[in-house]
Amino acid sequence: MNLRGLDKSRLPRHVAVIMDGNGRWARLKGKSRIEGHRRGKASVRAVVEISRKLGISYLSLYAFSTENWLRPKDEVHALMGLLEHYLTVEQPKMMRHGIRLLAIGDKDRLPAPVFHTLGNAVRTTRENKGMTVLLALSYSGRDDIVRMVQNIARKVREGVCAVEDIDEGMISAHMDTRSIPDPDLLIRTSGEMRISNFFLWQIPYTELYITPTLWPDFREREYVQALLEFQRRRRRFGRTDEQITQPFQSCDRGQRTQK
Ligand code: IPE
Ligand code: IPE
Ligand code: MG
Repeated sequence: MNLRGLDKSRLPRHVAVIMDGNGRWARLKGKSRIEGHRRGKASVRAVVEISRKLGISYLSLYAFSTENWLRPKDEVHALMGLLEHYLTVEQPKMMRHGIRLLAIGDKDRLPAPVFHTLGNAVRTTRENKGMTVLLALSYSGRDDIVRMVQNIARKVREGVCAVEDIDEGMISAHMDTRSIPDPDLLIRTSGEMRISNFFLWQIPYTELYITPTLWPDFREREYVQALLEFQRRRRRFGRTDEQITQPFQSCDRGQRTQK
C-alpha cells in the first residue's frame, strides 16, 4: 500500500461514503448501468480492505437509498442480486479479518433473499472485534429521523421516559447509528454537491470530501488522497483557532460540548 505521507496516528475514526457514479462510469465506457454497479462492487472491496489495513474503526457505505426504490425495476432487481452475491461471497473474508457488519435502513423493504442473507451476515459477524462496516440499505436520513421520533414518542407515551429527558444523547441513541460515533469524514464520489438524504443527524461537524472520480474508479490511490486531505483540515467544532490545542480531534460529542 502506498500511503504517500499519511499519518497513521491521525486517521478518521469513522469514514462514510456516498458511492455515486456507477451509471455515468458505464455510459462513458459504453456499458450497461448494471455493469457499472458490478464494477462498483470491486471499489467497495478495495475501500473495505484498505480501511481495515489502516485500522479505521468504522466505515459506512451508502449502497441504496430510500429514493433508489424509484429506479427502473430491472436496475433495482440487479442491484439487489449484486448485493446478495456480495454478502454471500464476502462473509468468509469478514470472518477471517474480524469485520463486523451492521445494516442500517428500512430492511423490511428488502426482497426476502437479501433480507435473510443480510440478517445472516450480521448475525455471523456480530462478535467480530475488528472494523465495523455499516451498510446503508434502503436508507435515508429523514427516514432514520422519523423512526427515531416514533420510537422516542412511544417511550414517552408508555411512561418509560419524560419529554424533558429528550436530549442529543437520547436522539443519537435512537438513530440507526446508535453506539456508532459520528463520521469524521464523508466522501462523495462523482462530483455531486449534495447529501442525497444520507446521514443528516450524524454529520454536524463531519469533514466533507467531494471528488469528481466516479465510484468504479475510486480505489486505493483516490482513497489515500481523501485521507490526506482530511489530515490537512483544521477542525474547530465552532471554536476559534487559538482554542484548538490538539492538532487533531475526531468527532466526539464530549469534545464538542465540553466547556
Ligand atoms: C451509485 O451510482 C449507485 C447507487 C445509487 C445504487 P448511480 O447508479 O447513482 O450512478 P449515476 O449517478 O447514475 O452515475
Ligand atoms: C446517492 O446517489 C445514493 C447512493 C449512493 C446509494 P444517487 O445517485 O441516488 O443520488 P442523486 O439522485 O444523484 O442525488
Ligand atoms: Mg447517482
